[in-house]
Amino acid sequence: MTTQDSIILPKAVDKLRDEFPILHQEVNGHPLVYLDNAATSQKPLSVVESITNYYLGYNANIHRGVHHLANLATEAFEKTRKKLAAFLNTPDQREIIFTSGTTDSINLVAQAWGRMNVHSGDEILVSMLEHHSNIVPWQMLAQEKGAVVRVIPITPKGEWDLTDLNQLVNAKTKIIAVNHVSNALGTINPIEILIAEAKKVGAKVLIDGAQSVVHFEVDVKALDCDFYCFSAHKLYGPTGVGVLYGKAEVLEAMAPYRGGGEMIHTVSFSGTTYNEIPHKFEAGTPNIEGIIAFGAAIDFATSLDKDFVQSHEHELLRYATEKLSSIEGLKIYGESENKVSVISFLVDGIHPYDLGTLLDHQGIAVRTGHHCTQPLMEHFGIPGTVRASFAVYNTIEEIDMLYNALLKAISMLK
Ligand code: ALA
Repeated sequence: MTTQDSIILPKAVDKLRDEFPILHQEVNGHPLVYLDNAATSQKPLSVVESITNYYLGYNANIHRGVHHLANLATEAFEKTRKKLAAFLNTPDQREIIFTSGTTDSINLVAQAWGRMNVHSGDEILVSMLEHHSNIVPWQMLAQEKGAVVRVIPITPKGEWDLTDLNQLVNAKTKIIAVNHVSNALGTINPIEILIAEAKKVGAKVLIDGAQSVVHFEVDVKALDCDFYCFSAHKLYGPTGVGVLYGKAEVLEAMAPYRGGGEMIHTVSFSGTTYNEIPHKFEAGTPNIEGIIAFGAAIDFATSLDKDFVQSHEHELLRYATEKLSSIEGLKIYGESENKVSVISFLVDGIHPYDLGTLLDHQGIAVRTGHHCTQPLMEHFGIPGTVRASFAVYNTIEEIDMLYNALLKAISMLK
């Protein structure tokens, strides 16, 4: 970062923070310092307003109406599909399926693709860094089919250990399901290597992008993965909505996931035919306001200067790592050179929950616990960590506040 950048950045962040009224409040008598962005990001005014605008101006069910409000709602809803296609860089909007979030997207693939394509003795490859939502759906499928879930091990720094890649990805591998970025450690995984390896054996690849898209651009065509999914709520959008990108030919060959309205072409008691993609996978009335607000979130995310996001988050991570590392007895978990602005840590002899509670007393919101990655915590032999996760609207001053609050909490607990 240049000297000039470091003068410009705080002003830009101040302006950005005006878009997030929630940040301007006190918690327990202290200014709120929100460092739980990997769990969910805060929402800008434009996203909140898009929900109220829908309910105040054009609330109606989509697709099946001929009246004015139904047309407005359908148009706004489908606009999000268009925005998401551009966001992920696919020219084909049929490849964008709306879901209720990353978990739902993974379950959709595990069931609708997995039940048709995974058989006894086949292998499903995940990694030690996965969130439970990218482990359990595969375990359920494997149990039903008599398949095997194999696990990519990790190095002490929290990176994939691909020493035995040739054995991990083999003729029995049917699908590789891994995250792009680890929610617990922040590691950015070299997914390109696995995608290339999968092609050699004809396996499909699903990428869980829940923690990536808020930090850097993703191009599904350049990656050439089969599936990519993420949730709106970690990208300035509302909870309860997400997306599954799938290659059209793969989605077309899949059986439907849930049965109901919208996903059919014709229904009769002698048999039912199914709708085309993407509607084949979108049964029932969706979360209309959530998907419209997802569009507003995409607009917000794409309006941010990419270089600014990267350099500011990089500086937050660098500064926080330097400050926290100077605290005696504090150990950081996840030390990859290639990571997003997430710091997971523990302090000798102190339970993460106690630390999190005392930070909250000082207005600082962090996450404590296993972060839905129990196998990873077990691998490290720890009950969980304290996780501070930074967004583009966080400041260097907030890291100083975290540091000072940590010193105070540690002195009270030791
Ligand atoms: N998966 C979310 C997290 O990492 C909830 O906090």
